[in-house]
Amino acid sequence: MTRPPAPACAGAAAPALLALTLAAASLPAHAGDAPAVAYPQGADVFQANCAVCHGAAGAGIPALAPPLVSYPARFAASAAGRRQLAMTVLYGLFGDIMVDGRHYDFRMPDFARLDDATLAAALNFVAFDLAHAPATVKPLAPEEIAAERAHPVDGAAVHEHRNGVAPPGP
Ligand code: HEC
Repeated sequence: MTRPPAPACAGAAAPALLALTLAAASLPAHAGDAPAVAYPQGADVFQANCAVCHGAAGAGIPALAPPLVSYPARFAASAAGRRQLAMTVLYGLFGDIMVDGRHYDFRMPDFARLDDATLAAALNFVAFDLAHAPATVKPLAPEEIAAERAHPVDGAAVHEHRNGVAPPGP
């Protein structure tokens, strides 16, 4: 069982490397004086899976998908709020919610197909890069996602839980 690594691996890695190099090369073009992203891996996950509804910068779409630029930082600062974030991405969310004084009543799909580390990275990008949670807040760990994955609920239950953790509406 001591087969040398298949040369095919190197071949497969090359396009990935090229893509990375291209991505890195294209960065300065739009980086400007934008602050560095603290969770680049989470940013990639977000742009690939979440930006279509929440917008690339998390500004949301009026009446459709809520902005993610403030509440997630508050959620990340409490144990119940951290559970809420994990539950939202694992099980989705539906039912009327109020975010920054506006109503949203649509359906957030679940992302249970993404693994714990991937979801934690996406949530850290949301909480720290988009919503600017302070450095005193601990980054979400994959274990916190795993803990919620062990207790499946549905999007209505996630909505119910949110009532206990969201900032009170105006
Ligand atoms: C198909 C559109 C869509 C996609 C894709 C999507 N969301 Fe959502 N998201 C929503 C909607 C709609 C809501 C609000 C649900 C409601 O009205 O109850 C929401 C709510 C949320 C909330 C809760 C906000 C709050 O104040 O409670 C978080 C956090 C969130 N999304 C993060 C994400 C992340 C992270 C991803 C990618 C992994 C993602 N969303 C992908 C539509 C989407």
